Amino acid sequence: MMTKILSALYQTDKNIRKVLQNILNEQNNVSRVQQASISAVMNGGKRLRPFLVMETAKLFDINDPRILRIASAIECVHCYSLVHDDLPSMDNDDMRRGQPTLHKKYDEATAILAGDGLLTLAFEILADEKTHKDSDVRAKLCLELAKASGLNGMVGGQMCDLQAESSNDLLNMQEIKNIQNLKTGKLIQCAVKIGAIVGGANSKQMQCLENYASNIGLAFQVSDDLLDALGDEILMGKSVRKDDVKNKATFVSLLGADKAQELARDLIKSAKSELEMFDEKNQTLKQLADFIIDRDS
Ligand code: IPE
Ligand code: IPE
Ligand code: MG
Ligand code: MG
Ligand code: MG
Repeated sequence: MMTKILSALYQTDKNIRKVLQNILNEQNNVSRVQQASISAVMNGGKRLRPFLVMETAKLFDINDPRILRIASAIECVHCYSLVHDDLPSMDNDDMRRGQPTLHKKYDEATAILAGDGLLTLAFEILADEKTHKDSDVRAKLCLELAKASGLNGMVGGQMCDLQAESSNDLLNMQEIKNIQNLKTGKLIQCAVKIGAIVGGANSKQMQCLENYASNIGLAFQVSDDLLDALGDEILMGKSVRKDDVKNKATFVSLLGADKAQELARDLIKSAKSELEMFDEKNQTLKQLADFIIDRDS
């Protein structure tokens, strides 16, 4: 089962790279910031968010290749978030996806600008007629991505994550849940929601998919925190054991690894139970949920 998901993710990576390469080539990529942006999106990664967009759309029998453009837009925002997350003023990391972080490869200013460029490019892709024929759908996709990425989404969560580092107060379960949900959960939820919008989900289907996504989104960050505490640096392609040193507020710091693992398992169980209405079509999204807590990178 794990091998099946890994090969499906690998296929997604191949497709997403092609689409992003074409989009970035259209940008006349000769400048330093364009090259840096290419480096930030072409350097691997699991492509979990694009995969979620496509697999959710498949629940509604949507296999239109244009869905890859939508999936690529979310990946641009995700890659930008990683570039900025690694900056010296944030997590100050040297390694990402097995390579030097963007500000190490280039410099800080270039990394900031490449991140800004990728964020903007995501909306250019979503607003483009080539992405979806219906302008109402395009506007909805832009709105969802903006909400998930912005002040009440990933950016807001990143701020809370940094503020918690320097706070003397120990955060409680609800506060940590809130941070993780914003910084990581929202974009994962957005990927599923966008797939459901394109698929034309009804309100009951949308509700179940939103519940699925919020559970896997939280579980994904619990698992990221567990991998920081217990995982292998080479497999992860990024430095590990940093959360403790930086006094990050995580489920692992609050609960310890065993209880955090239990929590992640419970979240995944709840996530899978939300997919019952899709019958046998739900298999891949169920397997992906398991992958989120079984992965080693
Ligand atoms: C890492 O995300 C940052 C978090 C939101 C926890 P991923 O683990 O999805 O990173 P890549 O895309 O596979 O490198
Ligand atoms: C990052 O969380 C979440 C983002 C919005 C990028 P982390 O700081 O835990 O991610 P890693 O461990 O550096 O990938
Ligand atoms: Mg961080
Ligand atoms: Mg980080
Ligand atoms: Mg982490």
